[in-house]
Amino acid sequence: MASSSWNLTPIVFVLLSLFVSSAFANFYNNIDVTWGDGRARILNNGDLLTLSLDKTSGSGFQSKNEYLFGKIDMQLKLVPENSAGTVTAYYLSSQGPTHDEIDYEFLGNLSGDPYILHTNVYAQGKGGREQQFYLWFDPTADFHTYSILWNPQRIIFSVDGTPIREYKNPESLGVPYPKNQPMRMYSSLWNADDWATRGGLVKTDWSRAPFTASYRSLNQNACIWSSGKSSCNSNSPSNNAWLNQELDATSQQRLQWVRKNYMIYNYCTDTKRFPQGFPAECSLQ
Ligand SMILES: *[C@@H]1O[C@H](CO)[C@@H](O)[C@H](O)[C@H]1NC(C)=O
Repeated sequence: MASSSWNLTPIVFVLLSLFVSSAFANFYNNIDVTWGDGRARILNNGDLLTLSLDKTSGSGFQSKNEYLFGKIDMQLKLVPENSAGTVTAYYLSSQGPTHDEIDYEFLGNLSGDPYILHTNVYAQGKGGREQQFYLWFDPTADFHTYSILWNPQRIIFSVDGTPIREYKNPESLGVPYPKNQPMRMYSSLWNADDWATRGGLVKTDWSRAPFTASYRSLNQNACIWSSGKSSCNSNSPSNNAWLNQELDATSQQRLQWVRKNYMIYNYCTDTKRFPQGFPAECSLQ
């Protein structure tokens, strides 16, 4: 007995390390660098990716797979110090004029001034559903996890596991919801100093270029869409608990804490923009 369990120990360790090392997607196998002419780099055998931006160009990548629903987690460390004028985008999107899209955009700032985390949801080509937040930490000092949970009932944006936004399926109100178009994951770093920082007042300081953002620990718990079929049809539903996930009471409280203390813009309370009344889906917030 004692000797057999002793002998198993190394095997268990090997299996465990295989499991742990494959828990995160390798960037080489899971993404394609799509632009930037060498400014996007995959490092550390596929565990790390960096995007950079200089006066000539930004850079970007996209997932090899398309998804129809999923839970995507990725750790980002944003452009440090004076990042004013830069935007780091991380989003899911389908193609075409009636596309769906679920967006994170990180708007840079002067050293010591807060980034803005901008979110939006497009359904069938229509967006305009912005919510913006400050973060409760310095997103340039270390990696933090930014997640998109997308299932047929809701979209939940979370930061380090804390939900910051829930967008519920508004189809019962006659408003379309992203549900029928497979989406890819995209990320890019680019210059947007015409609008990003203090509404475009603060310009990019090119003497500080290149600007660099880093990525690691991509986790794609998603239904892969390929040749008109979802990988989730054949999977056991127990592996896909996120397909029915909703916010429990604790998460609801966390969400309220974020909304109360860190939300700086919500289209659903912008009376100047919607003098005739808010969009129908606002009643679900
Ligand atoms: C940048 O800092 C200013 C001053 O604190 C703040 O008003 C603004 O919201 C910050 N973020 C961006 C992206 O402009």
